[in-house]
Amino acid sequence: MESCRALVLSLCVLSVSLALAAGRDVPVKRYVVNLDAAPEEHFLPMCQDPDILELIPMLKKDAKDMITSLVPEEVLPLVDILTADLDQYLPQPFAGEMRGIANCTGIDLGEIVILNLAYDLTAFCTSIVAQDAKGTIWHGRNLDYGFGDFLRNITVMLDFQTKGQTLYTSTSYLGYVGALTGQRPNKFTITVDERDQGAWWMNALEALLNKKASLVSFLVRETLAEADTYDVAIQRLAYTPLIAPVYFIVGGANVAEGAVITRDRESALDIWTMNPAQGRWFVLETNYDHWEEPPADDNRRMPTMKAMNTTGQAGINASSMFQVSSTRPQFGHVVLSVPHVLNKGTTYTAIMSAAQPQVYNTWVRWPEGQASAQSP
Ligand SMILES: *[C@@H]1O[C@H](CO)[C@@H](O)[C@H](O)[C@H]1NC(C)=O
Ligand SMILES: *[C@@H]1O[C@H](CO)[C@@H](O)[C@H](O)[C@H]1NC(C)=O
Ligand SMILES: *[C@@H]1O[C@H](CO)[C@@H](O)[C@H](O)[C@H]1NC(C)=O
Ligand SMILES: *[C@@H]1O[C@H](CO)[C@@H](O)[C@H](O)[C@H]1NC(C)=O
Repeated sequence: MESCRALVLSLCVLSVSLALAAGRDVPVKRYVVNLDAAPEEHFLPMCQDPDILELIPMLKKDAKDMITSLVPEEVLPLVDILTADLDQYLPQPFAGEMRGIANCTGIDLGEIVILNLAYDLTAFCTSIVAQDAKGTIWHGRNLDYGFGDFLRNITVMLDFQTKGQTLYTSTSYLGYVGALTGQRPNKFTITVDERDQGAWWMNALEALLNKKASLVSFLVRETLAEADTYDVAIQRLAYTPLIAPVYFIVGGANVAEGAVITRDRESALDIWTMNPAQGRWFVLETNYDHWEEPPADDNRRMPTMKAMNTTGQAGINASSMFQVSSTRPQFGHVVLSVPHVLNKGTTYTAIMSAAQPQVYNTWVRWPEGQASAQSP
């Protein structure tokens, strides 16, 4: 686990030499999840897509590699206990959905469970919520993982529907039932950034087995499904016990609705809101508490802030948010060893605006390429 940041850092340096390769930032495929069907069937349409079927043998192998390198052996018996009695330990629809995915991919249910836990806790990211000059709220995020190559291949957008209407949308990976990026149309948008959690596997599994805490990504999905207003979403994200500390970044559909919630496992330590009337027209979060200086070797906050300041409130829209998320060292610059907003680990960029739900989009990033011609 502790290698996650080191991996991002070392790969970042590599990206410099590849900076002249051709750009390949492509929007990802979108699927409907019918919430009116049984949980076991929620992901069948995705699973049965020939494009996805083709990836499953590779997914099986990559999942095994990811598990071997991420998961300490001593927690595997706890994973077995959890898997053997999934309904007892995990709420619906998540337990049924995991069974359905295991069934249709042929991947072992225990591995699906581990992957869902692992995604919950290894995301290095940058999230920004900004209000433009007209008062519209925009939310952009990069999701960075050490296992980028594998995850890029299985990134999808999901529209969770009931009676044919989209209740909420998320960006996810095949096999992953939680949400780290999502939108409740006309209400709010949420992203999750990892917060340093030390040795979390044991803590997380104990909390789950004692039913004392929620998976981070389950709480996000439940909030997307059930919270009807921005304020309710903030309360729920701030005060529900979790298996690990995280940052929640939330955007609303009305002016001045933007916040970074700094969580420990029990509850919020801090809720930092935008305040456009006083000049704070955006809030941004990487993976460090906003009241502390980020470490010099991973300061993605500064270049993001600089890019936002340069764009200015009047220049904010879907396209410029995407460009800010694409801030990277230019070929030929002197200081290249610093991780930038877009780095080798970035798997996707998502741009959202709760008040304009049709804007929601996600691009798989191949950061070795040039800025995309296909950006919004
Ligand atoms: C597993 O898949 C088969 C067909 O692919 C289906 O008949 C069966 O009902 C599924 N089982 C579960 C538990 O979803
Ligand atoms: C991702 O998919 C491409 C084909 O689309 C394949 O060449 C590549 O090996 C895959 N990468 C991983 C890590 O699975
Ligand atoms: C961005 O602008 C804000 C407000 O004017 C200022 O406090 C901050 O230092 C600037 N940051 C950067 C990196 O330019
Ligand atoms: C978005 O804003 C940029 C300036 O930041 C501007 O150049 C561009 O034309 C705008 N795009 C749209 C679609 O309004």
